Amino acid sequence: MRSVLLLSILPFAQAVRIIQSNDDGWAEINLRTFFNVLTSAGHNVVLSGPAENQSGRSSLDSPPTTVDSDGCIFSSCPGGSAPTGSNATNPRLNYVNSYPVTAIKTGITTTAPKIFNNAAPEIALTGPNVGSNVGIQVPFSGTVGAAVYAAKDAKIPAIAFSGVSGDPTAWNQPTPLYSQIYADLALNVTTRILASGTPYLPSNTWLNVNFPAVTSTKCNNVNQFKFILTRINWGIFSEKDVTWCGSDRLPTEADVVGRDGCFATISVGDANDKTTADLKTQQFVLPKLQPILSCP
Ligand SMILES: *[C@@H]1O[C@H](CO)[C@@H](O)[C@H](O)[C@H]1NC(C)=O
Ligand SMILES: *[C@@H]1O[C@H](CO)[C@@H](O)[C@H](O)[C@H]1NC(C)=O
Ligand SMILES: *[C@@H]1O[C@H](CO)[C@@H](O)[C@H](O)[C@H]1NC(C)=O
Repeated sequence: MRSVLLLSILPFAQAVRIIQSNDDGWAEINLRTFFNVLTSAGHNVVLSGPAENQSGRSSLDSPPTTVDSDGCIFSSCPGGSAPTGSNATNPRLNYVNSYPVTAIKTGITTTAPKIFNNAAPEIALTGPNVGSNVGIQVPFSGTVGAAVYAAKDAKIPAIAFSGVSGDPTAWNQPTPLYSQIYADLALNVTTRILASGTPYLPSNTWLNVNFPAVTSTKCNNVNQFKFILTRINWGIFSEKDVTWCGSDRLPTEADVVGRDGCFATISVGDANDKTTADLKTQQFVLPKLQPILSCP
């Protein structure tokens, strides 16, 4: 019954092996809501996130250590727990007591292979981060750092998601509206990339996706959102961007995500330096995203 229902909602649904992480901590509700949404969509998901808040830790990487006496974030594991661990009843939910890059790396190299019968994850999804990661915030973000590690070092296509609204919230609290909307929008982008076929993204490429504010009166329904193709940084001295919406210069994500309207931004990123990908890479990715894109 369940599979018939899923088939009718998602005619081209395919189960894919997904590794998830973030920088706000493995027990943060945006990450857990997205885990639940991906799992309900039929995917084969392993989450490997930092034991503590590791916001702003960029691409730092260091061996995990014993959890301090306070325990994991939101008391999600006891004080003095082992450097890595799983939820007692769900081995797909894992913490790593170190940086975001270490958390996703441990997931890719150690945890996921056990659940995926030694197969590698097919796509890496980080966030949704609590707070935006646009423009000059990008190099510092651990959510971006983990996605870039996957794309560059592990050769796994990666998408980093971030949303403006909310404060860090425990996984066992009621799901806030923004968490549900960000997870549904993140599933939309993920489904589009998967439906576009392999390679999901060119090598060394990641997507930086940012969601605008959700309030009880504005942008409170997924149908109100539009996806806009953007750049991470200004391109004044760069080569042209892909020609799209009548221009060969894309708007910046910082410009678009703050505009009136419910605009979610998607930038194509270069994993070598966390800046906007070059023209050729943008040209490869545009047709994949085009069915969900609008012009600003
Ligand atoms: C997580 O760390 C960041 C950066 O240090 C800080 O701004 C933020 O408030 C922290 N979040 C929590 C819930 O402590
Ligand atoms: C562990 O999983 C159980 C069952 O799904 C859940 O009730 C519990 O809240 C989870 N705890 C954490 C920290 O993930
Ligand atoms: C995904 O987003 C696009 C653009 O907003 C929308 O047209 C489409 O219906 C969405 N698809 C799903 C499955 O939500």
